[in-house]
Amino acid sequence: SGMFTLDPGFTSTASCESHITFIDGDEGTLLYRGYPIDELAENSDFIEVAYLLLSGELPDEGQYAGFKDDITYHTMVHEHFKQFYDGFRRDAHPMAIMCGVVGALSAFYHDSTDIHDPEQRKIASHRMIAKMPTIAAMAHKYCVGQPFVTPRNELSYTENFLRMCFSVPAEDYEVNKTLASALDKIFILHMDHEQNASTSTVRLAGSSGANPFACIAAGIACLWGPAHGGANEAALKMLQEIGTKDRIPEYIEKAKDKSDPFRLMGFGHRVYKNYDPRAKVMQKACHEVLDALDIKDDPLLEVAMELERIALEDEYFIEKKLYPNIDFYSGITLKAMGFPTSMFTVLFAVARTVGWIAQWQEMLEDPNQRIGRPRQIYTGAAKRSFVARDDR
Ligand code: CMC
Repeated sequence: SGMFTLDPGFTSTASCESHITFIDGDEGTLLYRGYPIDELAENSDFIEVAYLLLSGELPDEGQYAGFKDDITYHTMVHEHFKQFYDGFRRDAHPMAIMCGVVGALSAFYHDSTDIHDPEQRKIASHRMIAKMPTIAAMAHKYCVGQPFVTPRNELSYTENFLRMCFSVPAEDYEVNKTLASALDKIFILHMDHEQNASTSTVRLAGSSGANPFACIAAGIACLWGPAHGGANEAALKMLQEIGTKDRIPEYIEKAKDKSDPFRLMGFGHRVYKNYDPRAKVMQKACHEVLDALDIKDDPLLEVAMELERIALEDEYFIEKKLYPNIDFYSGITLKAMGFPTSMFTVLFAVARTVGWIAQWQEMLEDPNQRIGRPRQIYTGAAKRSFVARDDR
């Protein structure tokens, strides 16, 4: 049928109108509510940018303090919730745990699931943003076999998260301010990215009126894939596999070979065809962290920088406009901070929750909101009559 336009991967279909994030892929521009991403990453913090994405404006002092209180009020999880973790094998991937336990939140908070009530929507939003770091840190602690750490609300969002991940009993844990500030930057860079796959998933799930916590779980499932949020983990694994600079050309050839499914992880983007503005801030944050931890001559960083240099000079990558994306340097940074590779995408999910929530709210507030229901172009069998099994 010629009634619908076929658009695989939705490269030319706008699914909604949005006020939240602007991307110009040719210029390499990314704006949250009009503010350039690098200015926010350099000067702001998690709470402030979350407020901006949700409300549309930067907060004044009073609004900042009020929002911080709203979020910290909800950082704890129900005691029963902790039992979900025990059902997972110790070697479960933390993203598998996240898919399960975040979905399970929908069974706990019945007073914040009426999506038609703006007050309940707000509480569900605050709960999600507040509990994600707690839930993510618990996934990490579960995998390494250490006891869960209770949130500490006098700390900043990021400091509290680092403490919940890395503090161990009977030892004083002191937050390294440089690491906390670098992680704040990483979170800000990942918070929103308009109608990417996982955000579109959250919107589509939410368009049916589904439970908000379940919608976020759907977003987490989509983010997990290596073409999306899973790329940071895949990029680091790739750098480790390459190992030494002399093996780079071999991998470049492999990436160019069309009979080989291998791609340079952390390279290329659906929208950015000039450069990924997040990658620049990320590269700088990476050097800051390695300096703060006094890590000199990190072999992975050396491989990364050389790989970037060679790829940027290669005809194939130039012609296809493939540049390092945000995930190219985030893995090295997170690894230096002490996060296991399997946690990288979980950290992405913590940050992206803010964008998912902002987009979900915007969708529900849109007077034109309807259930998302794409059509198709049918290419199967024409109408035919049933034939009994004996006669086939
Ligand atoms: N290495 C080698 N070749 C590549 C790469 C790569 N990383 N990325 C794209 N290409 C080639 C691809 O083979 C295709 O070539 P041809 O035209 O000859 O068939 C051409 O470039 C266009 O690629 P595409 O797959 O049609 O582009 P897309 O917009 O559908 O995919 C992408 C975008 C990000 C999925 C893809 O570039 C990719 O797989 N990159 C590696 C994974 C990655 O780093 N993902 C993170 C994206 S940023 C964070 C996030 O979104 O979560």
